[in-house]
Formats: sequence, structure tokens, C-alpha cells
Amino acid sequence: MSQGIENKVVVITGASSGLGEATARHLAERGALIVLGARRSDRIDALATELNQKGYKALAVPTDVTDKNQVKNLVDTAVQEYGQIDVMLNNAGLMPLAPLERLKIDEWDRMIDVNLKGVLYGIAAALPYMKAQKSGHIINVSSVYGHVVDPGAAVYCATKFAVRALSEGLRKEVKPYNIRTTIISPGAVSTELLEHISEKDIQAGTKEFVSKIAVSAETFARTVAFAVNEPDDVDINEILFRPTAQPV
Ligand SMILES: NC(=O)c1ccc[n+]([C@@H]2O[C@H](COP(=O)([O-])OP(=O)(O)OC[C@H]3O[C@@H](n4cnc5c(N)ncnc54)[C@H](OP(=O)(O)O)[C@@H]3O)[C@@H](O)[C@H]2O)c1
Repeated sequence: MSQGIENKVVVITGASSGLGEATARHLAERGALIVLGARRSDRIDALATELNQKGYKALAVPTDVTDKNQVKNLVDTAVQEYGQIDVMLNNAGLMPLAPLERLKIDEWDRMIDVNLKGVLYGIAAALPYMKAQKSGHIINVSSVYGHVVDPGAAVYCATKFAVRALSEGLRKEVKPYNIRTTIISPGAVSTELLEHISEKDIQAGTKEFVSKIAVSAETFARTVAFAVNEPDDVDINEILFRPTAQPV
């Protein structure tokens, strides 16, 4: 496994906007080889083109993380192209907040499919390679909402608590293979996340609160870079950060 960030092969789900996009840029600028996964192929194609034109290395692979075969294809393509996978950043997610009594059952399904099962599919795709390499780093994105629960956020919180539980189990299981695991739990960060809240009253209230305090997606990218850049014998297991102004 390469040390630091340079020349590491980093696969990112949800790379078409927000945290994933910012991390792709940040790590590419530091010499990582980036493999971008998301459904909006126009976005990841444009980002890959931009990064390659700047002299960095990036590849776009259209991926819906609710389809385990597409996630496997994302990771297989990374290994075929670059010979290995060093970092799997399971970042794709959505947060359509609403109280349970509004019975947004399709959105519950979607959050479980993307936020939880998508992470599992990412682990399933990367783990066989990392075991064989006897090296690798799996980074799963949870949230402050993986630590606290608010009204209107129950299902989202359930998925993000689950990501933390899953990651802790993974951490203990992969010790024999020299694989590192990191949970990153951000507070409010300015991205497209709130655009997918379908309940307009909830969306308006959340936007009003978040817009006053949110920090930039670059903040998240720096935490990923920190965990990845640490020496191979250091395993940064969890990073929880909030905007300084965030009370919850
Ligand atoms: N922003 C925050 O304040 C905050 C705080 C805590 C945690 N998080 C977490 O951070 C992660 C990234 O969110 P973000 O804030 O960057 O929001 P965002 O700008 O909306 O980005 C979400 C990303 O997930 C991707 N995605 C959604 N469904 C997908 C699917 N089925 N298959 C593949 N990709 C899918 C989207 O790509 P496509 O639509 O192109 O597929 C997009 O690239 C999420 O897990 C979120 O829960 C965010």
C-alpha cells in the first residue's frame, strides 16, 4: 500500500456533488488516483475531464449504489485501471427529512437502500481486493445524526447509527488483513443534501437553520485527507465535526 495520499487509488461514491465532489478534488490535487461513482454521469464525466486536464488522474464510472452489481463494477474498474484499491469512500446518501406520521414510506426505503445498503455494497465490493492486498482503508460517512436523534430525522438517524455500528464491526473483523476503517460524522455542511427533502415546510425550516451555520464541503475533504494521510500503522477510527455555531 502506498503511504500518505500520493498515488493511492481512491474510489468515491456520491462523487457528483457536495462532500464527494469536494473530496475528489482535494485528494486529486494531492496526487491520489480518483475513481468517481454516482448516477449523474454528466457530472462525474465533467469532473473527471476537468481533473485530468489539470494533470491529475481521475476516472468516472456511472454507479447507482442501490445495485450491488454496479458497485462491484465501480471497484472492479478501479482495480482494472489502476491495479489496486487503497481507499473506499462510501459517501453516497440522502436525507429526505419528515416526521414518521407523514408516512413517507418510499423515502424510508430509499434511505435504507442508499445510506445503509449502499455502504454494505461498497464494503462487499472493496473487501475481497483489500484482503488479498493485505491493505486498504474503508471510510464510511455517517453524521452527527449518527450520534443524536431529532424529531423528523428518525429514519435518516437510523441509517446513520447503523453505518456507525456496521463500521465498528468491520473495524474489529478486518484487523487480520491490515485494513483501516474510518467513520466520518459531519455536522451541517453546505451541499445539495437539503434539495431532496420533499416536504416543503420541513425543507424551508431546515434550509433556514442550516444556511446560517453550514461550513464548506472542503471541511469534510480535509478530514478525509487527514485520515488517509496518516501513516499505515495509524487507524483513525472516527471523526465527528460540527460547525462551531451548530448547537445540536
Ligand atoms: N451535508 C451535510 O450537512 C451532511 C452532514 C452529515 C452527513 N452527510 C452525508 O454526506 C454524504 C454526502 O452528502 P452531501 O451532503 O454531499 O449531499 P449531496 O450534495 O446531495 O450529494 C449526495 C451524493 O450522493 C449521491 N447519490 C444519491 N443517491 C445515490 C445512488 N442511488 N447511487 C449513487 N449515488 C447516489 C448523489 O449522486 P447522484 O444523484 O448523481 O447519484 C450525490 O453525489 C451523505 O451520506 C450524507 O448523508 C452530509
